[in-house]
Amino acid sequence: MKKFLILYISRTGKTKQMAQWIAEGIRFAGHQADAMPLPKFKDVSALAGYDGVLLGSPTYHKDMLPAFKNWLFKAQRAGLEGKAGGAFGSHTHSGEAPVILHETMEHVFKMNMLDLGPLKMEERVVDTDDGMRACQQFGKSVAERAGA
Ligand SMILES: Cc1cc2nc3c(=O)[nH]c(=O)nc-3n(C[C@H](O)[C@H](O)[C@H](O)COP(=O)(O)O)c2cc1C
Repeated sequence: MKKFLILYISRTGKTKQMAQWIAEGIRFAGHQADAMPLPKFKDVSALAGYDGVLLGSPTYHKDMLPAFKNWLFKAQRAGLEGKAGGAFGSHTHSGEAPVILHETMEHVFKMNMLDLGPLKMEERVVDTDDGMRACQQFGKSVAERAGA
């Protein structure tokens, strides 16, 4: 059984809902998934204990939320290289945040990212069966990327 960490920020609950369904997908595949709001995860050295890390931010003003940017600087030297990764987030019309997260995780942290790219989801889809299934499948795909 592999261990996955899902960290997210969410103002109105949409990206949080995505995180919960992604965690379900990982658990359905037989693995452990811890999902928590980013501000609760203070000690980046704990990242070393995970086989895969997934990061989720909604898009505000065509960007991720500022707290996420600060956290990424802290995570830079946390040994994420080679770990399976996925980026996700809810949006209404442009959805830049998960794309920026995915690129940072791939090119700066050198993580083993999903070929299918980030999971950008319009918020009107999040609370539907299709949204739930897409998130669960995304979690399962990241677990497979970790060799699980
Ligand atoms: C002030 C404001 C700015 C926003 N800017 C964007 C944006 O640039 N691009 C976009 O796709 N969505 C934008 N949104 C929509 C949010 O990304 C969307 O409501 C999202 O589902 C919120 O996710 P959350 O509930 O996880 O916070 C904006 C929303 C607000 C209130």
